[in-house]
Amino acid sequence: MNFKRSDFPETFLFGTATSAYQIEGHSFGGAGQTHWDTFAATPGNVVRAEHGGIACDHYHRYEEDLDFISNAGFDAYRFSTSWARVMPDGVTPNPEGLDFYDRLTDGMLERGIKPCATLYHWELPSALADKGGWQNPDIAKWFGDFTECIMERIGDRMHSVAPINEPWCVGWLSHFLGAHAPGLRDIRATARAMHHILLAHGTAIQMMRGLGMSNLGGVFNLEWSEPETESEADIAANVLSDGYYNRFFLGGVFQGKYPEKIMEAFEPHMPEGWQDDFGTIQAPLDWCGINYYTRRIVRANDDPWPSHDVIPNGPLPKTQMGWEIYPDGLYKFLKRTKEEYTGDLPLFITENGMANPDMIKHGTVNDPERISFLNQHFNAVRRAIADGVPVNGFFVWSLLDNYEWALGYEKRFGLVHVDFVTLERTPKASYHALKSALEQ
Ligand code: FCB
Repeated sequence: MNFKRSDFPETFLFGTATSAYQIEGHSFGGAGQTHWDTFAATPGNVVRAEHGGIACDHYHRYEEDLDFISNAGFDAYRFSTSWARVMPDGVTPNPEGLDFYDRLTDGMLERGIKPCATLYHWELPSALADKGGWQNPDIAKWFGDFTECIMERIGDRMHSVAPINEPWCVGWLSHFLGAHAPGLRDIRATARAMHHILLAHGTAIQMMRGLGMSNLGGVFNLEWSEPETESEADIAANVLSDGYYNRFFLGGVFQGKYPEKIMEAFEPHMPEGWQDDFGTIQAPLDWCGINYYTRRIVRANDDPWPSHDVIPNGPLPKTQMGWEIYPDGLYKFLKRTKEEYTGDLPLFITENGMANPDMIKHGTVNDPERISFLNQHFNAVRRAIADGVPVNGFFVWSLLDNYEWALGYEKRFGLVHVDFVTLERTPKASYHALKSALEQ
């Protein structure tokens, strides 16, 4: 790496991240069916209809995986708790599921790793999807009950907790673009889901405060948005793109309002009384997490609202996902988030990393692309810190190659390679490079 631990403030947290459905193996331990299982089983949704039934078998191999985290010298591990493992039908606790997260937590503490939990990383129990999932206003209460159930068990040992990973993906990507479960393409479903996600977020924060917990935050995925040209139409399209992607959720949580231009389209679809929910949505946070991967370029078109295309194949070098590599976007978001939304609140990069077609050759995996990608993004963070932005940590996505949602097992994001036939783990060159940077 072209940086070392001592280039960052002494308290800066270096971590790595995963999520439950992507690594654990959902066919184990009495986990209930989720909307991802049925989404994946429906032709055309997921590459080769792959699902998280076995994934990395982390459910059985978690000790080995935690060893990779501690041996690399990471301070913290961002993991998630599966709602459907803890409550298979969405409401009834599963002792085996609770026991698993209890063992996992103790496994982290035994190794000196700080447990950083995300309550929900997308595996909604099917029983709740049947009731309308995120479209149903009752989901805030259901989510509060889940929060209480899991955090009564492990909350005493968490370093930090965030309720919902990436509201934009749970909302827009899943209900407007139909690219993730439940695969809807409906503006009304989207508007309602996006609001209920924040209501559930606030409800969970209040529930955890009630349990006496602290160091609670939110995790938002941001994608730098730019108009293709300086035409009025492209610029207006970009305001919408930036609005529904980046500003809606930060605005709700930190300013108690949604972007006006988005509400022009959403208003007729919003759930009754939505304006009264901001007291809950704005429950104070201790930190704000940003997941950052790429930028988007927007071109106006004549379709119905939001009347634009996101154009593929921008000019910059790309990752295996086809995502442009744009570290400047991270720097700009850190500055903008502080200036417009969070002020002095500590910021964390809760996800950043890249997919690469990594292969084992002679027992090793050489991934200079990932080393360069991480160098560029860690350096964007250093620039922001030098400019006075309070960035307190960075979690690399991901510890392991894993189930990359609609793209199945093909896109490899791990610092550790996983052979999905034998489930054998092989640390990549980027893992070794980070380990050495963290020692210095
Ligand atoms: C993020 C998700 C994570 C993973 C990465 C590549 O949007 O939080 O689960 O899929 O992208």
